[in-house]
Amino acid sequence: MTDKLIIFDTTLRDGEQSPGASMTRDEKLRIARQLERLKVDVIEAGFAASSNGDFEAVQAIANVIKDSTVCSLSRANDRDIARAAEALKGASQARIHTFIATSPLHMEKKLRMTPDQVFEQARQSVRFARNLVGDIEFSPEDGYRSEVDFLCRVLEAVIDEGATTINVPDTVGYAVPELYGEFIRTLRERIPNSDKAIWSVHCHNDLGMAVANSLAGVKIGGARQVECTINGLGERAGNCSLEEVVMAVKTRRDYFGLDVGIDARHIVAASRMVSQTTGFVVQPNKAVVGANAFAHASGIHQDGVLKARDTYEIMRAEDVGWSANKIVLGKLSGRNAFKQRLQDLGVVLDSEMEINSAFARFKELADRKSEIFDEDILALVSDESVTSEKEQYGFVSLSQRSETGEMPFAAIVFTAAGKEVRSQAQGNGPVDASLKAIEAHVQSGAEMVLYSVNAISGSTESQGEVTVRLQNSGRVVNGVGSDPDIVVASAKAYLSALNKLQSKADRVAAQG
Ligand code: KIV
Ligand code: ZN
Repeated sequence: MTDKLIIFDTTLRDGEQSPGASMTRDEKLRIARQLERLKVDVIEAGFAASSNGDFEAVQAIANVIKDSTVCSLSRANDRDIARAAEALKGASQARIHTFIATSPLHMEKKLRMTPDQVFEQARQSVRFARNLVGDIEFSPEDGYRSEVDFLCRVLEAVIDEGATTINVPDTVGYAVPELYGEFIRTLRERIPNSDKAIWSVHCHNDLGMAVANSLAGVKIGGARQVECTINGLGERAGNCSLEEVVMAVKTRRDYFGLDVGIDARHIVAASRMVSQTTGFVVQPNKAVVGANAFAHASGIHQDGVLKARDTYEIMRAEDVGWSANKIVLGKLSGRNAFKQRLQDLGVVLDSEMEINSAFARFKELADRKSEIFDEDILALVSDESVTSEKEQYGFVSLSQRSETGEMPFAAIVFTAAGKEVRSQAQGNGPVDASLKAIEAHVQSGAEMVLYSVNAISGSTESQGEVTVRLQNSGRVVNGVGSDPDIVVASAKAYLSALNKLQSKADRVAAQG
């Protein structure tokens, strides 16, 4: 057994399945590049057969990522597998991850298949996939709630057919650490050819134990791959969190005795990028990447840390990429310094035009805000989608009036399909008035299911980052906008959400 723990990131696939977290191709590409900087071993880039948009995202990622293996999920059927192989053609290292449910409940109620039919389909799909790509992962969905004898039969057969990684999902987050660890150990002990595959854990967080279960799968069960997402993003309560599992194994190397290839200095930037792209805010007390994770507010703690850091600190903030709120740039910083900072933050803008446009917005921000932090730069770049010419709607300007006892009023200028539109409305507050002014023209009919404001950095001078979640015809999207003026940030977030609704509708239409 090796001493290396493989980190398989599924932010762009399982993470994206979280309602509202869907990402555009360009957003996924940007995150994939950051995952490569982080030195993630495997990037699950999407589910190629699920939509044209997902196919294109997997293909684009496969074409640019060189150091990580790029993987596509696929149901256990020839059509899905062929589509995944097609999307992965350009990859330096490609993996197909195929799955079929094996628990009695899923087989009977969801698949309406007998165990023998599932067994055959699993076997044939791995055989088919193995002829297209050398690196094949197989997952028995709801594996943890499957009958162990049947699971052993299926897994032995797929290893015989050439599966190189066997992943055991706790799909519904039902496991507890000791039992899950023992479950993996039992499978490995009972399956005669188990040593021909790498064993992997994939845990959901419904009972808050995804990280603990994954670590037990490693320690007790002998798994050597962990599937996880940045910030624990994922459906319902999310997936196992990459930053927590990685820092647990690194910090407690004395206990786990394993190496992880992750360059942890890029963790915080990855966390911010995912949060700003999806609009899923990171809770302040979140381990490793929460704003308070390294803050010592109590006098006793501060005193201790000043005398000797390790009195209260088990990890160093800078080792995971906290730059101690450094002021990185200001009004006088030039284009080169800006470009360099983008590079340091792992942001790759595709063209000179994009860099120029981001730099212009940086200058505009620096005129209004004396200190520009890394968070500001990342937010500014995320806003690219709002003002990009590719998008349906773009923010131009806003004025609003509010006074005690008066009905607030807003007048907004924005672009719709390249044309400037002016609209105005009253509302019960300036934000409400601004969004009503947009809606008066757009008439999307979307329902707002979430509105939240977050200060990007500490003070009132900070930019406000607004997330708006809209729901329309069964589609749920999050839009994010940032600006020192939270009314403007709200309008940008609303336009960004409308763009996402639009692009989702286009994707659905394109699939016919
Ligand atoms: O949770 C799950 O079962 C999955 C599989 C598709 C691997 O995400
Ligand atoms: Zn999952």
